[in-house]
Amino acid sequence: MQEKIDQYTADILAFSPANADELEAFRIKYLGTKGLIKDLFEEFKTVGPEEKRVFGKVLNQFKQMAEGKYAELKESLDSGAKTQDLGLDLTLPGDGFEVGSRHPLSLVRNEIIDIFKRLGFVVAEGPEIEDDWHNFSALNFPQEHPARDMQDTFFIRKGDGSDDIALRTHTSSVQVRMMENGKPPFRAIMPGRVYRNEAISARAHCFFHQVEGLYVDENVSFADLKQTLFHFVQELYGEGTKVRFRPSYFPFTEPSAEMDISCTICKGDGCNMCKYTGWVEILGCGMVDPNVLENCGIDSKKYTGFAFGMGIERITNLKYVIRDLRLFSENDVRFLKQFQTDII
Ligand code: DAH
Repeated sequence: MQEKIDQYTADILAFSPANADELEAFRIKYLGTKGLIKDLFEEFKTVGPEEKRVFGKVLNQFKQMAEGKYAELKESLDSGAKTQDLGLDLTLPGDGFEVGSRHPLSLVRNEIIDIFKRLGFVVAEGPEIEDDWHNFSALNFPQEHPARDMQDTFFIRKGDGSDDIALRTHTSSVQVRMMENGKPPFRAIMPGRVYRNEAISARAHCFFHQVEGLYVDENVSFADLKQTLFHFVQELYGEGTKVRFRPSYFPFTEPSAEMDISCTICKGDGCNMCKYTGWVEILGCGMVDPNVLENCGIDSKKYTGFAFGMGIERITNLKYVIRDLRLFSENDVRFLKQFQTDII
């Protein structure tokens, strides 16, 4: 009898039902009216008084253990069923974390910042909602300049009907704020979002991003401008990238230039990115017009400076061969995932 009890105890303790049917079979096998425990009690009736004294207690403990185990298993199966009702299966592995990625525009902006930081430039920022003075007048835009036209600028009408407040159309406004609020030398880059009233297409958007640069000190020359930008291009697009400067016009610089680089896609051989010229324009630049320095309270006899401004989208397009500007603001994860880096 003891042997049987030991064997059943081991079996019961090891038992783990996969479902309610298995548990029911367990109940019938041990606790049923024709079950093994019932058999043991029948057998108990036949043993001598001496054994009765010993086994009475053992048998009762065994029965309690079997009933306890059954109740415990039933409870856990029932609560499992409840979780299933909720549509949860707690045995499934958990969801893994989706690793985010930096937006390509942020990656490129940070790269631009890093390159200029190594040259001693600091980062400055300004407001996206600007007044006419900082966005246009201080920068030498004549009153009738077409860039002030409603076509290009998002004006914000004030309660009194006046509209000298606008979403900045370029980061050049931050130059003005910096010069007004400090003393030369200035050596800063100014990244930020800008807005223009343009129809959205693959090549234009109503908002985009620029990085402005400003260097004002005694004896700053056009040679400094050229060398700084040449170095920047070598760092960003690789040694051997060619640059060329073409004369241009901006109200706030004199002389002004646009800088082209040898096409990063075809290396100058000609492709549709560079319209088969081998060159692509990446920024505007020039020597800060003395009028602008004076507008900002800086002695233009003593100080000179250079400035430049580039669109981050354009720089990014050339780096990653992206042909549709709209991808930058649509937040399609299939696009963004391609820029996954190990920086979280
Ligand atoms: N503000 C110009 C634009 O939005 C870019 C630019 C050109 C900025 C020449 C400059 C500069 O600082 O010197 O098109």
